Amino acid sequence: MLSVSSKILKSRFLLILLFTVAIILTVIYFADPVKIPVPAFEQLYTSAAAAHAEKKPYFDKESNHDKKIFDNFDNVTGAEHFIVPNIIHFIRFQTFELDFVDYMVLLAALRNHKPDKFFFHTNVENAQFTGKYWGLVQQDEDLWSRIKVLFLEAPSEIFGQKLSEGWRFYHGSDIGRIHVLMKYGGIYIDNDSYVIRSLDKYRKFEFVVNWDDDQFMGTQIIIAHKNARFLPLWLDSYRDYRPDKWYYNAGERPTMEILHRKPELIHRVKGEFGAAVNVSMQLYFDPKFDWRRYDAVHLLTSHRYYLDPYFNKTPVFNENNIREYEFPFGEMAREVLDKFNGIIE
Ligand SMILES: *[C@@H]1O[C@H](CO)[C@@H](O)[C@H](O)[C@H]1NC(C)=O
Ligand SMILES: *[C@@H]1O[C@H](CO)[C@@H](O)[C@H](O)[C@H]1NC(C)=O
Ligand SMILES: *[C@@H]1O[C@H](CO)[C@@H](O)[C@H](O)[C@H]1NC(C)=O
Repeated sequence: MLSVSSKILKSRFLLILLFTVAIILTVIYFADPVKIPVPAFEQLYTSAAAAHAEKKPYFDKESNHDKKIFDNFDNVTGAEHFIVPNIIHFIRFQTFELDFVDYMVLLAALRNHKPDKFFFHTNVENAQFTGKYWGLVQQDEDLWSRIKVLFLEAPSEIFGQKLSEGWRFYHGSDIGRIHVLMKYGGIYIDNDSYVIRSLDKYRKFEFVVNWDDDQFMGTQIIIAHKNARFLPLWLDSYRDYRPDKWYYNAGERPTMEILHRKPELIHRVKGEFGAAVNVSMQLYFDPKFDWRRYDAVHLLTSHRYYLDPYFNKTPVFNENNIREYEFPFGEMAREVLDKFNGIIE
């Protein structure tokens, strides 16, 4: 008697269990495909207030900048695996809005490199994603999910020396990129550098920069581990800051005094980042220019007005005039805008 009722109980239990499992499996099977969560604005933005409240010094002396990890590092073959995080850093001082070229640069970096994250460092308090191009970014789930905004103070001095008044935000951005790379490591990209091919092959090195023969290094694209030995040396060269010279502290001095003496500190890129002016200018001049052989190219957007002979025909690019633009820049823009979001029909 007893054993019969316990058997019934057992089989009823099994039945319920089977039923439950079946329901769960059915729900999983018919449920919506998993959606990529789109982070809310609050999660994206480290508010200016919070950053101020932290009262962190611009350069954190506490960060354990263990120089020894790169002793005898091979600057030609690099490490066996990636040592640089897949983050692309942009610095935007004074304005947070995107224009057409900023948007195109962002799309090119997404399509051709695919970073895990884009960090936008800005001194704009409570930066808002206003304007048409931020709107388009927000509509693109994949891109939007990678965007993170961080407050970055624009420095007004360095080692007690006041930054040049006229060039404060340019020299400030030069210093800002050293700060950002020492803090996070990653890939710094100028607001007008178009990425053509994946930069992953450079993520195995301590520090990578374009340094053409007989030139100063070009800081439009920098790939660095946060403990790269070059970074504190570069920063230190600002102890003798020259407010009157445009590219002395960012390029001239570190090239002459650090790189010429210790070229092993960097993996030297010669030409592939399209940092030379004669390369950039082909984009607005030579319809047959083979821009695809570079890893990236500097668009020199804010210098076009005196370098581009046809500047007056198209002083400002937009998604309408780019359709007919016959020089390589047009093809580059159409390639990312077309295939990515069809804003050009
Ligand atoms: C982009 O960089 C150029 C050159 O450094 C500068 O003139 C321009 O203001 C920058 N744009 C933004 C939004 O930071
Ligand atoms: C590596 O370092 C050597 C100096 O030890 C330098 O001559 C060479 O140009 C560097 N190579 C690259 C690819 O940066
Ligand atoms: C740009 O000039 C350099 C020399 O300064 C040269 O090696 C290179 O081939 C030139 N590139 C183009 C595209 O004209």
